[in-house]
Amino acid sequence: MAARSPLAKVFISQKLPAEVEARLATHYDARFTPEDVSYDAEGLIAGAAECDGLLVTPVDKLTAEVIEALPGTIRIIATFSVGYDHIDIAAAQRRAIVVTNTPDVLTDATADIAMLLMLGAARGAYWGERMVRERRWARWAPTKPLGIQVTGKRLGIFGMGRIGQAVAKRARAFDMEIHYHSRTRLTSDREHGYHFHAVLDDMLPHCDFLSVNCASTPETRGAIDRRRIGLLPEKAIIVNTARGEIIDDDALIAALESGKLAGAGLDVFKGEPDIDPRYRDLENVFLLPHLGSATLETRNAMGHRAVDNLDAFFKGEQPRDLLVGPPVPSPQPLA
Ligand code: DGY
Repeated sequence: MAARSPLAKVFISQKLPAEVEARLATHYDARFTPEDVSYDAEGLIAGAAECDGLLVTPVDKLTAEVIEALPGTIRIIATFSVGYDHIDIAAAQRRAIVVTNTPDVLTDATADIAMLLMLGAARGAYWGERMVRERRWARWAPTKPLGIQVTGKRLGIFGMGRIGQAVAKRARAFDMEIHYHSRTRLTSDREHGYHFHAVLDDMLPHCDFLSVNCASTPETRGAIDRRRIGLLPEKAIIVNTARGEIIDDDALIAALESGKLAGAGLDVFKGEPDIDPRYRDLENVFLLPHLGSATLETRNAMGHRAVDNLDAFFKGEQPRDLLVGPPVPSPQPLA
């Protein structure tokens, strides 16, 4: 009987849902990470020793330096995320390392959170909840406290990819008038009467609500700055489920403090979880700890999608979600 070649070795940088780990354990020589452990640059490089692939998450910073220091055995980095701003793609390309992500499967969960942020920021989910818990709710009264109506308002979506479109679909159920800015205009069958703005600045005056749904790229980082916030109508509301870096924190906090903006709903932050501490003291922000994809169904689906990509790669096929990479290698056995 021919000797079996060894299974591919994969380093998994964070604890994953049980069914995803079970699948990895069956198919790979899987190097798992215990709960509540995450790695710095040195830890990632050490964990990758002798491995063929990495399964990482958005908290793992795969900078150019880390990628350059990875062992030569690493041929694929599969991220358990749609965003890949934590991976230096050019560095991976230089090392001929394949990179994959997990689009599609978190679209609905993330769009749900965008709606929660919009409603939460507009209708006082934070301050209303506190009133109840802190026993400051004395009686119902016609004039206070008051939130802001969401139904029928204008929503601007910055980044009309899968998640932006799913937010628009939900917002239509609230009779919102949809405006969007994206690199490319939607095809007419997907546009549903939305107003396209080729230039972001032109959309902003039409946004009672602005939902940030674009990828974090050199072009979008810091795009929502003081000048652009100034172009929004008075008392607009900004929500962000994309990446914290797209919004300039100083500009957003100044606009929330001055009352230029009525509120903000934030699920993502620059430097998270060490967020700008000023947010914690603002009454008019509704804050969540990066919960966009945080349901078991979605996290399972993200895990399976990441493993599908690894499986395809090690079978010598093109992974479905190939972001960058050279031709795939000759097949390696899966158990
Ligand atoms: C992603 O996949 O990029 C998300 O931010 C995780 O929720």
